[in-house]
Amino acid sequence: MNQENKNESKLIRQRIIDEYIRLTPKSQKFFERSEKALVAGVTGNLRFFKPYPLYFAGGQGSLIIDIDDNEYIDCFLCNGPLQLGHRPKKILEAIQQHDSTGALVVNPMLATEVAERLIEIIPSAERVRFVSSGTEAVMTAIRCARGATGKSKIVKFLGHYHGQSDQFLVGLGPSSTPVGDGIPQSSIANTLLLPYGNIDALEHTLEQEKDIAAVLLDPAMHAGGLWGSQKEYLSDVRKLTIKHGVLLIFDEVITGFRLALGGAQELYNVTPDLSTFAKALCAGEKLGAIVGRKEVMDVLDPRRGRKQSAIFQSGTTNDGTDALAATLAALDQYIGINNEDGFNRVTNLTKDLVTGLRKIFYAHDVPCHINQLGPMLQLFLTDQGRLNFETSSKIDLQPLYLFTLALLSEGVLFALPGSTHVYISFCHSEDDVRKILQSTKNILNRYDFSFLVNNARKVP
Ligand SMILES: Cc1ncc(COP(=O)(O)O)c(C=O)c1O
Repeated sequence: MNQENKNESKLIRQRIIDEYIRLTPKSQKFFERSEKALVAGVTGNLRFFKPYPLYFAGGQGSLIIDIDDNEYIDCFLCNGPLQLGHRPKKILEAIQQHDSTGALVVNPMLATEVAERLIEIIPSAERVRFVSSGTEAVMTAIRCARGATGKSKIVKFLGHYHGQSDQFLVGLGPSSTPVGDGIPQSSIANTLLLPYGNIDALEHTLEQEKDIAAVLLDPAMHAGGLWGSQKEYLSDVRKLTIKHGVLLIFDEVITGFRLALGGAQELYNVTPDLSTFAKALCAGEKLGAIVGRKEVMDVLDPRRGRKQSAIFQSGTTNDGTDALAATLAALDQYIGINNEDGFNRVTNLTKDLVTGLRKIFYAHDVPCHINQLGPMLQLFLTDQGRLNFETSSKIDLQPLYLFTLALLSEGVLFALPGSTHVYISFCHSEDDVRKILQSTKNILNRYDFSFLVNNARKVP
């Protein structure tokens, strides 16, 4: 990029940042206080964005409100859990109703009721174990798989995220590097990384390597950019894993209660041996679940004798009453939504949003690519012609960062600035979609995103 273009890009960037600062003085001030207590003023790396993150006071339905009293249509949903929106009435009532029981009670009856509901809803669920997060759910599923098979290695796909455990913080992009420092080589020695969607690569690995306990995948390939999920591929993976005596684990932390009532496994009619759920499962509370075939889940059974394989799993907050009450209410709401064709409604709403966005970007000569799956979309602002997982991971994210930051000034939290992840909840309405589209038009009229995208840094 020549100097003149660099200066022009900088100028647009500064105008967008100045507008953000003008509208969010209390967040700016609070950040100064917060970063003296919380590392970088946030509770997770992904929550930070420049010049400083927003601080939110609360939300209602599809709206979230910051401490400057700005209202935003929320398509971030705290990275997915709030599929029923902010402060869903029935969830709050359910928590209140169980408050007198106490927050932690050994063996609450509620846990059985929630497990029974999951068994009704999820095709692969015959037995259930609760934990407190998606990370823990995946870690436990993996231990079950290793315990049940007596094998050690796990196939993980490039571009798939499975939470915080060291063994899976590797290969989130197209290369097999760990994410950040602090992950010893020994922790990832049993993680076999393969390209997603390539059935021959999987077949070859399963034929060559006999110490594989499980194939683990996120059916949406959400972290990698929603480039996943073809029904035929998933059913081929199922056939191959059965043929080679390897367990199949669907990590449905993202797809669960979003793609269909029974998750991706219902939508694609492919039944894994084990599945993990969190996020939308508990609609904003903290709960994770591992569900699966009785024969496999029984490795968790503390009554097992010495001759049977048995694994250990326990957690102080495995059965938080509030979380279970919220989950039961959420599951009942998902069942009701499904009965009223709500999963299709929200997918269609998302499709309308994608169609509208494409039209607006096209009309403003802004090159873009949008992936959509159910009520999720991911936006890539780039002038690269044929985009795929590999090429999309090399895009300069600056234009997307500026677009998402600029949309905040229009009252739209489209994604956390710089992130591609966008969710539409059951609370979003056609009006919300119209507002998002109008805001996009306003932003593209105000700032020259055609210039920004066409002059973005080319990453080799
Ligand atoms: C597919 C997938 N699995 C697991 C996790 C980890 O869940 P948690 O953040 O609840 O630990 C995530 C989180 O984003 C996820 O997207």
